[in-house]
Amino acid sequence: MADTKATLTIGDNTKDYDILSGSVGPQVIDVRKLYANTGMFTYDPGFTSTASCESALTYIDGDEGILLHRGYPIEQLAEQSSFMEVSYLMLNGELPDAATLEKFTHTITRHTMVHEQLSTFYRGFRRDAHPMAILCGVVGALSSFYHDSTDINDPQQRTIASHRLIAKMPTIAAMAYKYSVGQPFVYPRNDLSYTGNFLRMTFGVPAEEYEVDPIIESAMDKIFILHADHEQNASTSTVRLAGSSGANPFACIAAGIACLWGPAHGGANEAALNMLREIGTPDRIPEYIARAKNKDDPFRLMGFGHRVYKNFDPRAKVLSKAASEVLDKLGINDPVLDTARELEQIALSDPYFIDKKLYPNVDFYSGVILSAIGFPTEMFTVLFALARTVGWVAQWNEMISDPAQKIGRPRQLYTGPSQRDYVPVAQR
Ligand code: SDX
Repeated sequence: MADTKATLTIGDNTKDYDILSGSVGPQVIDVRKLYANTGMFTYDPGFTSTASCESALTYIDGDEGILLHRGYPIEQLAEQSSFMEVSYLMLNGELPDAATLEKFTHTITRHTMVHEQLSTFYRGFRRDAHPMAILCGVVGALSSFYHDSTDINDPQQRTIASHRLIAKMPTIAAMAYKYSVGQPFVYPRNDLSYTGNFLRMTFGVPAEEYEVDPIIESAMDKIFILHADHEQNASTSTVRLAGSSGANPFACIAAGIACLWGPAHGGANEAALNMLREIGTPDRIPEYIARAKNKDDPFRLMGFGHRVYKNFDPRAKVLSKAASEVLDKLGINDPVLDTARELEQIALSDPYFIDKKLYPNVDFYSGVILSAIGFPTEMFTVLFALARTVGWVAQWNEMISDPAQKIGRPRQLYTGPSQRDYVPVAQR
């Protein structure tokens, strides 16, 4: 709704633009008529000051370090909820009662199997293929199996496709891991929790029973909750943009996976642990801090900094605490955790990081826990994508049902050659 107006004067052209307010957070200036009124575009590479949509899913306050999912603080959801419950909340807007949660979980559980033909897709990859490459390909291929749920204008089909994506990501992710280590795929089981099922499909083998360790199950479920959604980040914006053309949901999620893979985004968890291992011991931290500050060195502290959080990433705080708890409970003493803590302390007292408001983000500590659980670093971003599928699917559904949404088609500031005539090659 329009509260007040913003007045823009260009030469002798003065126009008012509505200022719209949300329920909480920054207001927006509605510039949808700007081009018609002025013949000009706004210019905002990286969308640092641009709201691309209206959303009721996730709210972030980067200065206060606040992250809410449908109004509930991430700290409370991480400590008290479950990934299945958060999934229901993101899709439906309210926390479910016990019977509704059981029904939802039952539905998701019974979509965890994949078509047997899908397993042949894996055979086409090299065994050493990065699992994110496999995930991109296999998830995109899902649309060739589910023609009955790609009519995006049918809410029923959108719901089935959403459930299928959330349910099958753990199976597909576990299969990618199994393929990379040369072990047989393990089928899902309906008597296990969503996260327990994933752990068994990943680490279980047909030669013996796999007992789900409740400590690991709880830590994994918390990690999934912390990665579920995050407002209009790069991969979510990719899913929305792909969805705005009417592309089927499986193709949209495959596009999101591809974007998440970048080291500036979801790929940072793999890069952060590799960096911490490369640093090795705390005495080498100053060398890397100096490199991070050196403008001529492309090196950045992976797992540090954020477009929105200019104070602290609340997810990093939860993960920092969880890292100590999980490693203690598992009786693991990983020197990488000490290096991470030392690096955080040194960086946060360095004027460069203080002035640029660079703090640990969600990717700084997650790898320490995932490594302790037994995942190779190449699987870290796959786990991020598995969890973020809930957010991508919820955002995709919200976009499709938003009457204000239309195909996304940004413009540009053109700086290329003005019109000129073709010159035949003999005259060049
Ligand atoms: C995720 O958007 C989301 O919500 C993403 C995410 C989600 O849940 O979806 O939270 C998940 O992607 C977390 C971020 C993971 N990426 C990393 O950890 C990679 C390292 N971080 C950076 O690449 C960077 O901080 C970004 C990409 C995260 C944010 O970049 P911005 O907002 O575009 O900021 P910037 O690159 O303009 O940096 C501002 C300044 C620059 O210096 P100046 O040009 O002003 O002199 O800070 C510097 C940067 O050089 N800087 C860093 C740094 N991050 C920024 N310097 C050293 N090390 C870093 N990590």
